Amino acid sequence: MKTLVVDHPLVAHKLTALRDERTDSPTFRRLADELVTLLAYEATRDVRVVEATVNTPVAPAHGVRLARPAPLVVPILRAGLGMLDGMTRLLPTAEVGFLGMIRDEGTLKAQTYATRLPEDLSGRQCYVLDPMLATGGTLAAAVRLLFERGAEDVTAICLLAAPEGLAYMEKALADFTPVRVVTAALDERLNEHGYIVPGLGDAGDRLYGAV
Ligand code: URA
Repeated sequence: MKTLVVDHPLVAHKLTALRDERTDSPTFRRLADELVTLLAYEATRDVRVVEATVNTPVAPAHGVRLARPAPLVVPILRAGLGMLDGMTRLLPTAEVGFLGMIRDEGTLKAQTYATRLPEDLSGRQCYVLDPMLATGGTLAAAVRLLFERGAEDVTAICLLAAPEGLAYMEKALADFTPVRVVTAALDERLNEHGYIVPGLGDAGDRLYGAV
């Protein structure tokens, strides 16, 4: 598994504002959206393209177009939804699948409550959106499901990651090589409740309120 911590002053600036407990939900949603677009730029560095030629008003120009089948973007409900627009802004032709997963706060284990994905992902590049890579249980289960359906490679985009979560993913996904994690920061640790420290609190609650 490869991990990329995006090192850019705009990413650090937006992340700092996201972390701030005084940031209200509308501002949090806007910042998360902007931050994902910056992370998506790095995360799509290996997106598949094919050669293409167009005619400019002056002469033919050789370039590229995104290859088919289009990439699949998979937000993990609910907090991953707050990352979807920021991602599809850069990949407007991507298809979008949905995975509903929730962490049991007692066992910290992931449970799947909704799946809306193509049955066959052969040859597809997939981008999973989950803001907080905490224990890694949810994200590892999601990535495994995509590979089991035939995905060619999977990139997870997270706003924040904890070392414990990355270590868990490494181990749990050791038999799947083309996995990448792209994040804005690698934080210190998890606390006893499974929250990332210093983190930003509960990403779903901060995006959508405590419902
Ligand atoms: N999920 C969150 O929303 N925040 C954390 O810190 C960990 C998991």
